[in-house]
Amino acid sequence: MIGRASILLMLVAALGGYNVAAISTTSMVSTISTTVMASCQCTNVSLYTDNKALSACRKSVLIETIDRIINETFGDRLTRLEAAAFSVATTSTSSSTSSSTSSSSANTCFAADTRFMLANGSSALLTSMSTGDLVKCINNTDGTITTCPITTVMHVEHTLTTPFLKLHYIDSQSKPQSLVVTHGHLVFTTNESMAECGDLPNGSYVAASYFEVGWPIVVYENGCLRTTLVTAVEPVVQNGFYSPLTTTATIIAEGVVASVYAESDLPTDFYGALMSPLIHKVESTLPIKDYENGIHPYIYNIFIIATTQLTPEVAAHAYEVAKQMYQDKKGVVTKEEMTQIFLDAKGAM
Ligand SMILES: *[C@@H]1O[C@H](CO)[C@@H](O)[C@H](O)[C@H]1NC(C)=O
Ligand SMILES: *[C@@H]1O[C@H](CO)[C@@H](O)[C@H](O)[C@H]1NC(C)=O
Ligand SMILES: *[C@@H]1O[C@H](CO)[C@@H](O)[C@H](O)[C@H]1NC(C)=O
Ligand SMILES: *[C@@H]1O[C@H](CO)[C@@H](O)[C@H](O)[C@H]1NC(C)=O
Ligand SMILES: *[C@@H]1O[C@H](CO)[C@@H](O)[C@H](O)[C@H]1NC(C)=O
Ligand SMILES: *[C@@H]1O[C@H](CO)[C@@H](O)[C@H](O)[C@H]1NC(C)=O
Repeated sequence: MIGRASILLMLVAALGGYNVAAISTTSMVSTISTTVMASCQCTNVSLYTDNKALSACRKSVLIETIDRIINETFGDRLTRLEAAAFSVATTSTSSSTSSSTSSSSANTCFAADTRFMLANGSSALLTSMSTGDLVKCINNTDGTITTCPITTVMHVEHTLTTPFLKLHYIDSQSKPQSLVVTHGHLVFTTNESMAECGDLPNGSYVAASYFEVGWPIVVYENGCLRTTLVTAVEPVVQNGFYSPLTTTATIIAEGVVASVYAESDLPTDFYGALMSPLIHKVESTLPIKDYENGIHPYIYNIFIIATTQLTPEVAAHAYEVAKQMYQDKKGVVTKEEMTQIFLDAKGAM
């Protein structure tokens, strides 16, 4: 769970403290002390007393009031920031299936203990790999299995307690297997049943939260892609997650064909454009293991600008500009070019 207070700290840190114009420290202190004095029926003098009952009252009113000030001042921005940075499912729950409970945490990731299939067919945890290592992935053009490098890691949380969905299936040796991903993470599914080995059938990458028992998934075992059915969908809570990126945006995780992406509140075309600099080539300039905010700094910077420094209208326009540039440059955009669009949008406000 990501508390509002920690988000606020991130936000204030990100804003460098200069943009918090709406409230001054003195007006905040006077709002808090006035509220505390009224609610706890203390006088100016007893406000600072050690009296247990009074200080308990003071503390609870204080927290409540600070929360209210945070909500009133930043509520709207916080919601947008959380939605964007952590892909919280804030979209209208149009799906009537009760199974798709919206998760309040990061949506983009594989549980930390997920094993990914390497180019040589063995599997490894992300923590034992580095960017540039070759893994099995899907060729999006012809649906064959190929190899691609891990280009970078988008989100790193070694220990954060996180709700996941565990998709169970039985492998060809009749052994139970499972894939643990965040609710919004995209996993491949198809309507075509494939008993024999073949290329990836027609189908699509769908958020884990929509999966139900009996849904087909595609697994890769002993050099063979085939379909099998999900035998159980289990909500679990585990610590830590990672979201590695690859050049085809696909990966084989615990034997299952999956996307490296998650469902996003951002416009789909823009999401692809935004991510493209990170999957286009291996990024060797950054360590794989840790980021200051858990999130890749390129993504984090743009999220902060888009969600806290631009109006929704200006941000929407910037998304359009970004998509256009992505098309004009035939999918080859740099992080700097993409970031500049948002800096320009901010500068023009
Ligand atoms: C309460 O205390 C503050 C700080 O000592 C002082 O500035 C203020 O005038 C006091 N208010 C009242 C109503 O006594
Ligand atoms: C602040 O907003 C959060 C989330 O919308 C809400 O759960 C909480 O009750 C609000 N707190 C106050 C004091 O308004
Ligand atoms: C595959 O490659 C990894 C990493 O280079 C290595 O540790 C592992 O032993 C290899 N597995 C096989 C079966 O060759
Ligand atoms: C994907 O398949 C196409 C068509 O068969 C081929 O031209 C391309 O080189 C393949 N790409 C990779 C990364 O294997
Ligand atoms: C499977 O078929 C249904 C009904 O035609 C369709 O709505 C759904 O999108 C299909 N699923 C996939 C993964 O193609
Ligand atoms: C996938 O769908 C396309 C068009 O809908 C069709 O032409 C193609 O044969 C299908 N591929 C497979 C493997 O079924």
